[in-house]
This record gives sequence, C-alpha cells and structure tokens, in this order.
Amino acid sequence: MPPHRLRPVLEGRYVRLRPLRPSDTADLQRHANDPTIARFTTVPYPYTLAHARDFIQQSAPPNALPLCIALRATDEFIGMCSLMDIDPPQGTAELGYWISRLHRRKGYTTEAVRLIIRHGFQMLGLTRIYAGTHPANQASAQLLRRIGFTYEGTTPHFRPNLAGQTIEKYTLRKEDWAATQAD
Ligand SMILES: CC(C)(COP(=O)(O)OP(=O)(O)OC[C@H]1O[C@@H](n2cnc3c(N)ncnc32)[C@H](O)[C@@H]1OP(=O)(O)O)[C@@H](O)C(=O)NCCC(=O)NCCS
Repeated sequence: MPPHRLRPVLEGRYVRLRPLRPSDTADLQRHANDPTIARFTTVPYPYTLAHARDFIQQSAPPNALPLCIALRATDEFIGMCSLMDIDPPQGTAELGYWISRLHRRKGYTTEAVRLIIRHGFQMLGLTRIYAGTHPANQASAQLLRRIGFTYEGTTPHFRPNLAGQTIEKYTLRKEDWAATQAD
C-alpha cells in the first residue's frame, strides 16, 4: 500500500493528528458549523449532522490524507489538518486546515501543520507542499509564513466553491523545511 494510504497518529505536545472516527460526528458538526470556516474553505455552511456523518463515513480519495486535530489531553476533535492531491511522482501535495473558533490563537494549528509537514516530507516522500489562502485570510497567511512557507503569488482558485476568487499561493520546499529543523 502507498504510504499516504496508511492513516498515522501524529503526536504533538498539545494536539494529536489522528484519523476521524464515528464518535467524532457530533463534535465535527458542532465545530464545523461556522461561517468563518466556510468563508475560507470548502466546508459547507450550515454544516449538518448529515454532512458530518457523510464526511466520516465516506472513504477519502486515494490521493488524500485527511486527519483530524484532537486535543492531546482529551482526544476531543477540534479541527482538521489534511494533505490533498498527493502526487507521489511529483512529490507534491496541498495542505488544508481549519480549527474550531473555540480553540484559536493557542498555537494548535501551527503545531498540527508542523506535524503533518514532517510526516509528508519524512514518510511520504514529498519534496514540496503548497497551500492556498484567500487574500483576506490574514490568520492563515500569517500562520504559513511563520512556519516557513514562501509566498509564490496569486493563482486562480483550486476548488469549486472558491470559484472566481483569487488565491494566494504559498509553498514550502523540503530543503527549506529541513534547514529550519537543523536550527
Ligand atoms: C487560520 C486558522 C487555522 C488559524 O488557526 P489557529 O490555531 O488560531 O492558529 P495558531 O494559534 O497556530 O496561530 C499561529 C499564528 O497565526 C497567526 N494568526 C492566527 N490567527 C490570527 C488572526 N486571527 N489574525 C492574525 N494572525 C493570526 C498569528 O501569527 C499566530 O501566532 P500568534 O497567536 O502568536 O500571534 C483558524 O483561524 C481557522 O480555522 N480559520 C478558519 C478556516 C481557515 O481559514 N482555514 C485555512 C484556509 S487556507
């Protein structure tokens, strides 16, 4: 099986990335049902229990690694952090994430992104991870810059519900990431 089809558990200091499970349904619905998430992602709003059930039950596309962000202390679901469009021959993948508004500005998404990036570069053979943010999404752009992503300019939208929106593209190359690990 290709390594990105395996579903790892990645432990951080405050959060853990793990596969979703049916018992996350209510928390997923409660946290995802938020227009501040829908504005900048493909997550629908309103977000119903049926959305949550479908999302958890559907098998992920073969080229995706969807993981949830859970609090390490309680294992409670609080968000998502995923690699999508994983392209092993190219060594590339797109990064996506969101976190409950109840848990923002605590460094949790930064930790989650660092965990999945490490996994992507060390275990999945990736050499370049990219992310797209809406120009108004200062929180996401700031987070990516702090982690070491480089702004590459604007690009047409990646995803259907963002059609017509300009997306700012950020990229992190493995060698640049590795250099920050040596510090
Ligand atoms: C973007 C998002 C994931 C940030 O998550 P978070 O857990 O709050 O981020 P962190 O706590 O790890 O913050 C890391 C840094 O990002 C920046 N940041 C985070 N939220 C910010 C905000 N609202 N305004 C400005 N900068 C912000 C800061 O530099 C922050 O560090 P600081 O708190 O020391 O200043 C969260 O706001 C979110 O889920 N938004 C809605 C969905 C979304 O936009 N997803 C990304 C689509 S590209």
